[in-house]
Amino acid sequence: MQLFKRRHEKKTQVDARLTHIAFIMDGNGRWAKKRSMPREFGHVNGAKNFKKVIRYCGDIGIKMITVYAFSTENWKRPQHEVDAIMGLLSDYIDDAVASMDENNIRLVFLGDKSIFPAPLRAKIDNVEEISKDKDLLLNIALNYGARAEITHACNTLIDAGKKNVTEADVAAALYTAHCPDPDLIVRTGGDVRLSNFLLWQAAYAELYFTDTLWPDLSTHEIDRIVADFYGRKRRFGGL
Ligand code: IPE
Ligand code: IPE
Ligand code: MG
Repeated sequence: MQLFKRRHEKKTQVDARLTHIAFIMDGNGRWAKKRSMPREFGHVNGAKNFKKVIRYCGDIGIKMITVYAFSTENWKRPQHEVDAIMGLLSDYIDDAVASMDENNIRLVFLGDKSIFPAPLRAKIDNVEEISKDKDLLLNIALNYGARAEITHACNTLIDAGKKNVTEADVAAALYTAHCPDPDLIVRTGGDVRLSNFLLWQAAYAELYFTDTLWPDLSTHEIDRIVADFYGRKRRFGGL
């Protein structure tokens, strides 16, 4: 006899149709402003939520995640804000290295790394190297812009002596050559644009925009976003 009635909640779990999810993590500054706090406070809480979201995506079976952390245009921001974001990023790498044995995350940075000071570059190179055999892929777009990426790919192909290029050649010269295109791109913060994110790779991605500010994006909302994705019909130009 069953003594206690258990509430059986259907747990979100994805399949191969949702292999790769990407997030434009927007709204940290407004989240802080609503609390009359400096923008940096929003980034601190955005970084906390980033860790929670990554963990949850792993739990529900997503194999590849790409996050937009810092764009080629974000250098226009005040130096103290840029420094705060880079500091959080550096802390995240330190944490990832310290917990390397307990997690299963492969870290790859998308963007031109040559702009970073040598110590940060060394940290990035190191964490990419020591995590390279892990199963769950986390791409962090940092100093990333899709136009810069495509331009860089063109130059790579020219340097390789190509006179004619195929779509496959271009894809293989992008920062994302190691993974398939995202199935779903989610932008928080209420703006309905891509802001120079994955322009090539987004060709047939499903797009989802939410007013929720990034630090507030909850696991429940991710469940709803995933359910919405599964309700869509992806035709890729076919019928
Ligand atoms: C996203 O939040 C994080 C980065 C761009 C680094 P914002 O800092 O753009 O926050 P809002 O859009 O001003 O609220
Ligand atoms: C996009 O957000 C970049 C990141 C989330 C890293 P922005 O806040 O920079 O985008 P815009 O300026 O509103 O288009
Ligand atoms: Mg923004």
